[in-house]
Amino acid sequence: MNATPQVTEIGARDTGLQAAFCDFIPQVFGRADFRRWCQWGEWTDDYRAYAVLEEGRVVANVAVMRMRLLVEGRELLAYQLGAVGCVPSHRGRGLSRVVMDAALEACGDAPLLLFANPRVRQFYPRFGFQPCKQTLFAAAHEALPEGPPVPGLDLGDAAVRAGLSALSSEGLPATERFGARGYSTAASWHVANGFARPLWRLGDDAWISAGVEGDTLYIDDVFARTPFDLRAWVPRLIDRPIRTVRLGFTPERWWPDAQEAGEDTEADLFVRGVSLSREPHGFPVLART
Ligand SMILES: CC(C)(COP(=O)(O)OP(=O)(O)OC[C@H]1O[C@@H](n2cnc3c(N)ncnc32)[C@H](O)[C@@H]1OP(=O)(O)O)[C@@H](O)C(=O)NCCC(=O)NCCS
Repeated sequence: MNATPQVTEIGARDTGLQAAFCDFIPQVFGRADFRRWCQWGEWTDDYRAYAVLEEGRVVANVAVMRMRLLVEGRELLAYQLGAVGCVPSHRGRGLSRVVMDAALEACGDAPLLLFANPRVRQFYPRFGFQPCKQTLFAAAHEALPEGPPVPGLDLGDAAVRAGLSALSSEGLPATERFGARGYSTAASWHVANGFARPLWRLGDDAWISAGVEGDTLYIDDVFARTPFDLRAWVPRLIDRPIRTVRLGFTPERWWPDAQEAGEDTEADLFVRGVSLSREPHGFPVLART
């Protein structure tokens, strides 16, 4: 290759370039899609993409989400990398290195994290990242459906998105061991793609993402302003008997007697410039990009 290709930064107001970014994503990631998320106005100033373009098409990209990371109760300005990829026709030419270097330079010395996949476990260590174990959590809990089912929430509604944004940034973080505040635009990305469990309204100031599979209730996240008794809501969240609850985050606050339920082998977490808790932890699934 001759000259280093130019990197274009794509921000919240660059709607034309966002369209090129949206066209790129399914070429590399199959089912993932950013169109609906962009239509919802969820591409905020916290999200930037670093891309190499060729004739108006994105051919390689790294995106960066600014996060209010929490590690052992301390809040840190951090960045989560995502949408790291290169179209198949252009791989092996160093283009991903070019966009990674641009993104890393923009992040400076801030802590970095990303959730990878098994095919790229050897890729991120080339850029100073280290793999980090994530743990699953579960509790034995028998319950029967009882009481009126809780109402659902539709993030397709702009008022609901605004509500989630406020609860997520102003409320209690689901976990402070290794978590974040104010990640509603990460959560809404999962919803916009149909990847998230439904969102339920327990009250004005308490929303949760949860769903039953088999005899297990999965609680993926809790967005609440004040503590409440999560267990007491279980009968209204289930449509059949359950025996187990699984949590999508470290449950030191919401289900303290939950136990470790093995390693989260699908997480493939990599971090740079931050040391995480020695205690077992799992970054909230809806905060992952
Ligand atoms: C992984 C991927 C981004 C690499 O893109 P690429 O443009 O071919 O990478 P580059 O040519 O810039 O390679 C950069 C360096 O990484 C190395 N590398 C490339 N792919 C790698 C892989 N899968 N595993 C380990 N190292 C890899 C290269 O050898 C090169 O090393 P060097 O600079 O020390 O010589 C690309 O294969 C891809 O888009 N994969 C599918 C999407 C994906 O899984 N993305 C990660 C999401 S977490």
